Amino acid sequence: MKVLIFRSRERAVVRAAGEIVQQLQARPASVLGLATGGTMDPVYAALIAAARDGQVAFDRATMFNLDEYVGVPPDHPRSYEHYMRTHFFDALNLPDRTWRLPRGDAPDPAAEAEAYEARIAEAGGIDLQLLGIGANGHIGFNEPSSSLSSRTRVKTLHRRTRDDNARFFGPDEVVPTTAITMGIATILDSRHALLLATGAAKAQAVAAMIEGPVSARCPASALQLHRHATVVLDEDAAQALELRDYYDTVHPDGEDGQMPAMRIPGLEPQA
Ligand code: GLP
Repeated sequence: MKVLIFRSRERAVVRAAGEIVQQLQARPASVLGLATGGTMDPVYAALIAAARDGQVAFDRATMFNLDEYVGVPPDHPRSYEHYMRTHFFDALNLPDRTWRLPRGDAPDPAAEAEAYEARIAEAGGIDLQLLGIGANGHIGFNEPSSSLSSRTRVKTLHRRTRDDNARFFGPDEVVPTTAITMGIATILDSRHALLLATGAAKAQAVAAMIEGPVSARCPASALQLHRHATVVLDEDAAQALELRDYYDTVHPDGEDGQMPAMRIPGLEPQA
């Protein structure tokens, strides 16, 4: 696991977005795994800026999102499909054939999950999987106690996850109780896993993921078993790491010789 700790959120975001840009520059027809959540907002802003600038194109890529709420139709403003359209796909006019999420309103969610897993396999598997992390250590919607061998399926959301995500819902709206999510084994099959975490609210989950035991208690800890995992952090998200000196020695300020020269609109560099 490569642990890169940056002095600012902007640098962490640039590093994560740059990894996706480089992947597509090397192989324009890559299969990408994509994530939602507030952490990803500036990543998509950076990717849109890079694409408009001609540095990268997404029209030959195939993109699979990690998850979707069950019972929420794709055009619903709280669906993850809506998130992806408004934060990324529509801004670049990406054709429908390039991206996919599980259908939250599928009549048989379990069958939809199985078919989604099969589609990923048919596409040749995921080259680069982008991930965030929940405060309880979840990746995708693989909540604590998820099997480390799990495949795409329906999962019940943890109370903490529903509380954390309530900010995206209106006061009169109910946060869904279940979601279709890629499984841990689906994520571990990706050829490169790239997890971005920023902010102090993620510090405990990040420490458990990197330095804790591999355990379903912290689903993200399964990334310790991944053959090529990169964890990109800002200072706040890294604050509970015990081996911090070591990570800084190996990659001071996150430097591993692959920091792209990108600027993100709306995110000003901090010292
Ligand atoms: C949701 C998503 C996860 C994401 C997490 C963190 O639960 N299913 O994929 O990592 O939120 O989101 P945020 O970046 O908003 O903290």
